[in-house]
Formats: sequence, structure tokens, C-alpha cells
Amino acid sequence: MAFLCRSAALLLKPSGAAPAVLSTARLYSSGGQYEYILVEKRGEKNNVGFIQLNRPKALNALCDGLMKEVGQALDAFEVDGDVGAIVITGSDRAFAAGADIKEMQNRTFQECYGGNFLAHWNRVSTVKKPVIAAVNGFALGGGCELAMMCDIIYAGEKAQFGQPEILLGTIPGAGGTQRLTRAVGKSLAMEMVLTGDKINAQEAKQSAFELTLAEGNRLEKRLFHATFATDDRKEGMTAFVEKRKASFQDK
Ligand code: CAA
Repeated sequence: MAFLCRSAALLLKPSGAAPAVLSTARLYSSGGQYEYILVEKRGEKNNVGFIQLNRPKALNALCDGLMKEVGQALDAFEVDGDVGAIVITGSDRAFAAGADIKEMQNRTFQECYGGNFLAHWNRVSTVKKPVIAAVNGFALGGGCELAMMCDIIYAGEKAQFGQPEILLGTIPGAGGTQRLTRAVGKSLAMEMVLTGDKINAQEAKQSAFELTLAEGNRLEKRLFHATFATDDRKEGMTAFVEKRKASFQDK
């Protein structure tokens, strides 16, 4: 995966607006229409699998249903002999504002650990065809992690990358602590994860060093699940939903 500060406009509709895509989209589903994504084949040779995240009112927050649909679309494109590469994009305003906080708000440690919460997201990184993230607007938390699971990121001028989970009393849980280090280097990655500060496309164009990704991801997932046993994680997500400042108690 590499951050490339190239305009995402080539891959997005001019306005980035979902309805324009919907009107021309040939939905690419074996089992009916998708609810949270728009899927079609694009390009002169119809050989680009195109997935647009489409929950505009929630800034493309990655609810369970959305990520299941992304997995289904990827499965279909992977076995489609006509498709040579896959693009995942959002809108001008948001690639994705993270995992769905409202869905997570009342989850318990037992549910997260027992169900291996977020494990299925990994499908994005195991697809056997190149996957490109075309990012504009917010790519936060799980949105940043989703982009980093792709092989290439084309970032537009309005792109903002961040891992703000600390502001919710939790940590990145979909590879952020591991892939961000490789993408922007340890120092900037630590700063982003510890402060929740965002960076733009230019700032993201840094480089990397190697760790054992699989092991790091496994440990990260367990620590992410463990934050669901803390009062502060509950308070952080509840404060977001109630639109107030979180009052953390360090417990
Ligand atoms: N989950 C659920 N809903 C979300 C959301 C999210 N991650 N991000 C935004 N929304 C919703 C808001 O609740 C709001 O809905 P309502 O209109 O129903 O109130 C709507 O999208 C628009 O959001 P805002 O009004 O907040 O828009 P804004 O322009 O003022 O702010 C923002 C935009 C800075 C992105 C802000 O929405 C925000 O901070 N979002 C949360 C970002 C975040 O913390 N992401 C990490 C999630 S945790 C995670 O992803 C864990 C992991 O590692 C997988």
C-alpha cells in the first residue's frame, strides 16, 4: 500500500454524488441490490470493478451491513475473469468516517472478543486482484484503515486521514496501528494514534518500515476488543452519539 497524492477526481464522478452513479449503475450483484454500496463495472473495456460506499447521511460510516456488502462485491469481482482491478471509493465529503460508532456504542468485550469483531474486514486485503482506494474527504478510523488495506491509495485534495479512536476511548482495530506505521513512518503514526490529529494527502506521502504485520494485527485486534471492557470506551462513544465532550475517568 502506498499513499499517492494524485487527484481522485479521475475515479470519482465530478460531484462525487451517489445519485449520479446510481442512475447509470448496473448493479453487480448475484443476489439482488446492495443497500449500502453502489457496484458496477467501469472503464473502456468494462474491466474495472467499482465499489462506491453509499451511506451519505452517516458519512459512509462502516456498519456491519456495509462491510458485508463490500466483501460480497469483492468476492464477485475476484472470480470475474473480465475484471482486472478494483476501485473502492466514497464521496467528495467522506471516503468513510470510520466504523459505525452508534452500532458499537453498547457492544461488550465478550461480544467483540467472542465474535472476533471486525475480522471479516480483512477480506479487502486478501483479494487476489489489485485494489485501489480513491479517497477524498474524511478517511478516519476504520475509513483510514480500509484505505490502507488497499494496494494503492489515490488521495484527492480534500482527503483527511486520521485515527481518532483515542478520542472515543478506544484504539484502531482494523490494522491502523500496523499499516499506518508502514505508510507514514513510526513517528507520525504514533503522533496520529496518540493525539487523534488528522493529516492531509501531502502529509501522508511519507514512507515506511517493516514489522510482522500478521502478528501485529492479531495483537491489535485483542487490545481493541479489550477497550470494550473499559468505562472510558463506553463514555467516549456515548459522548459522540450524544454530541457532547467525553468525560474520561481513566478506567
Ligand atoms: N459512526 C456513526 N455515525 C457517524 C460516524 C461514525 N463513525 N461519523 C459520523 N457519523 C454521523 C454523525 O453521527 C452524524 O449523524 P446525525 O446527523 O444522525 O447526527 C452524521 O454522520 C454527520 O456527522 P457530523 O454531524 O458529526 O458531521 P461533521 O461534519 O460535524 O463532522 C466528522 C464530521 C469530523 C467526521 C465527525 O462526524 C466525526 O468525528 N466522526 C467520527 C470519526 C471517528 O471517530 N471515527 C473512528 C470511529 S471508531 C473506529 O473506526 C474503530 C476502528 O478502528 C475500526
